Amino acid sequence: MGFKIAVAGATGNVGREMLNILSERGFPADEVVALASARSHGTEVSFGDKTLKVKNLENYDFSDTDICLMSAGGAVSLKYSPKIAAQGCVVIDNSSAWRYDADVPLIVPEVNPDAITQFTKRNIIANPNCSTAQLVVALKPLHDFAKIKRVVVSTYQSVSGAGKDGMDELFNQTRAVFVADPVESKKFTKRIAFNVIPHIDSFMEDGYTKEEWKVLAETKKMLDPKIKVTCTAVRVPVFIGHSESVNIEFENEITADQARDILREAPGCLVIDKHENGGYMTPYESAGEDATYISRIREDATVENGLNIWVVSDNLRKGAALNAIQIAELLVARGLITAKKQAA
Ligand code: A2P
Repeated sequence: MGFKIAVAGATGNVGREMLNILSERGFPADEVVALASARSHGTEVSFGDKTLKVKNLENYDFSDTDICLMSAGGAVSLKYSPKIAAQGCVVIDNSSAWRYDADVPLIVPEVNPDAITQFTKRNIIANPNCSTAQLVVALKPLHDFAKIKRVVVSTYQSVSGAGKDGMDELFNQTRAVFVADPVESKKFTKRIAFNVIPHIDSFMEDGYTKEEWKVLAETKKMLDPKIKVTCTAVRVPVFIGHSESVNIEFENEITADQARDILREAPGCLVIDKHENGGYMTPYESAGEDATYISRIREDATVENGLNIWVVSDNLRKGAALNAIQIAELLVARGLITAKKQAA
């Protein structure tokens, strides 16, 4: 007998992708339930070739549900996750609400799968920030080989990371520019169409944004607390797919050729790195794909052991929905969860 899975935030960008991926990968679920706010109650979402009627998260009883994939924002997660977890349902949460809690494992299955056993403390597992997920997938095999000292990352993040309102704003502004209508900014702080914005999430006291801080805090939590990370996070007018320019300084020697060979073998990574026109990955091409793509691998001659790489992935998949489902698959593969119906 299979599992009963709930997707909370099922009408959102990530929630819809969670439903797609559950169906595509044939997750061993007997029943999948779509949940969102009262606003969406009774609307329909696709699940494979079926449609599911959306139910209201607020009054949903989780006592016979095994896993809740949650992607409804931090405030909703803070309010509901402990209640859901108390009903014996494991929450895999995509928001930042629980990521820095010492009793909540933050997991990228290719990077720190063994940390998952700690989920029993709260019955909650955190999914990382979209930029961090693809970054650590690329860094982990390089760190294992030559020990990373410091990382300087600049992100080029698509508007889908800001939810469906972010995608609508890019579309509407682009249209407004073409038809010479006034361009209105509601979701983003400045115009995003034909522009880039060096600001994601709120500002912190030291001048960094919360998004930039997340990349360093989460890389340390999942990969190695000794690695120094600094980040500039930038929103770009791309619908789906985050890109990152990453400069890495290592303790030990590593050549570009070695890095290419290591990344070719690494789980979750795909190297596309030809030194010719078009011989690299772009975010547009990554949309709908599962891999973390690494291109433009080259040595940085300005430091002793340095590399520059370009990392691209679909932020809704590896950066969110796919990683959450891989976490659920890990729970099942390691026998850490038993279907309630089976146990009854
Ligand atoms: P709804 O569509 O009913 O508002 P996105 O990040 O793409 O904007 O999606 C956010 C998701 O979180 C949506 O599915 C949204 O549902 C859901 N959501 C937002 N607020 C709540 C809430 N208070 N309770 C349950 N789901 C919520």
